[in-house]
Amino acid sequence: MHRILVTGGAGFIGSNFVHHLVARTDVSVTVLDKLTYAASHAALADLPADRVRLVVGDIADAAVVEPLVTEHDAVVHYAAESHNDNSLADPSPFVRTNLVGTFVLLEAVRKAGVRFHHVSTDEVYGDLDLDDPQRFTEATPYAPSSPYSASKAGSDHLVRAWVRSFGVQATVSNCSNNYGPWQHVEKFIPRQITNVIDGGRPKLYGAGQNVRDWIHADDHSSAVWTILQRGRIGETYLIGADGERDNLQVVQMILKAFGRPADDYDHVTDRAGHDLRYAIDSTKLRTELGWQPAYGDFAEGLARTVQWYRDHQDWWRPHKQAVEATYAAKGQ
Ligand code: NAD
Ligand code: DAU
Repeated sequence: MHRILVTGGAGFIGSNFVHHLVARTDVSVTVLDKLTYAASHAALADLPADRVRLVVGDIADAAVVEPLVTEHDAVVHYAAESHNDNSLADPSPFVRTNLVGTFVLLEAVRKAGVRFHHVSTDEVYGDLDLDDPQRFTEATPYAPSSPYSASKAGSDHLVRAWVRSFGVQATVSNCSNNYGPWQHVEKFIPRQITNVIDGGRPKLYGAGQNVRDWIHADDHSSAVWTILQRGRIGETYLIGADGERDNLQVVQMILKAFGRPADDYDHVTDRAGHDLRYAIDSTKLRTELGWQPAYGDFAEGLARTVQWYRDHQDWWRPHKQAVEATYAAKGQ
């Protein structure tokens, strides 16, 4: 693989993967990104121009996608509408980008005979009870809860159908909640860190008991690169780093990092249909492909992330006020 097309490569996780490729391989990268509100030019700054090219375009536009795909050896597909709360306010861009966009890409790789990796989420499996000893595996039945997760579940099914019916050379990964630099302030961890930096209080949906299985975005990138190189065609791999924490625990870790009292947060209106718990069993990826996360300790990764948001206020501050106004209008 010498030339890789990364869709959504200007977003939080896609840009991390582009940096991963540039630092650890000699491949040339093309980023195809529509530059929605979630994209960031800054996340791609300082990359060598002879290694990374940005094409601004929509994955649902076949006239853009088809000629571009033929120029590459593989497509790694990150582009998506990614925020559950937004999908509850307006599902339409989620259906267009996540379903129609994935369909357009699949048709392009089918015609061109190009390798495809589909980046998806653990949310396709719905949720687990807090005391359920089981975690999600590749065999867990699909049961998505939100318009976002339903659109990602549908996109996964499209990929599997294109593998089986058309022989497309594709793999799928379903990863748990990512954290790290360049994550938009609408998301849980950046929202709480930046609230505290601004002298405000973290906002917990409902009781704060919901559990997420946190993984650093660097570890997600190394897993996707492992699957792209060594994954078996047609297979799905779950990506996770044993990082289960409830939301209250995460908020209290952030408060502690700033020397604020452990009860210095607000309970706000819960998310409709809020999934209770996600938990990933990544045994298949670890045993078959030999992948291991580099971040053994969520506390250390979170502390570095807190410091990153302290150091990059110029980046997130222009978006903060509008994000908070949208949440406030919903009592969140
Ligand atoms: P993000 O919202 O930060 O970035 C998405 C990127 O896709 C943006 O740069 C945006 O401009 C681009 N994009 C959106 N619509 C597009 C379109 N129609 N055409 C071209 N580009 C478009 O998202 P993220 O958190 O980086 O997530 C990336 C992928 O990883 C998504 O597929 C998501 O489902 C998946 N994922 C995310 C997480 C997580 O915790 N954030 C976990 C597992 C899987
Ligand atoms: O599990 C993978 C998924 O993780 C990805 O597929 C999604 O793209 C990504 O956004 C993320 O989805 P979540 O809905 O889990 O992430 P979010 O950051 O929105 O919320 C994390 C948890 O925190 C969730 O239980 C809701 C809660 N929350 C969120 C916000 C924004 C709060 O309690 N307060 C908040 O202000």
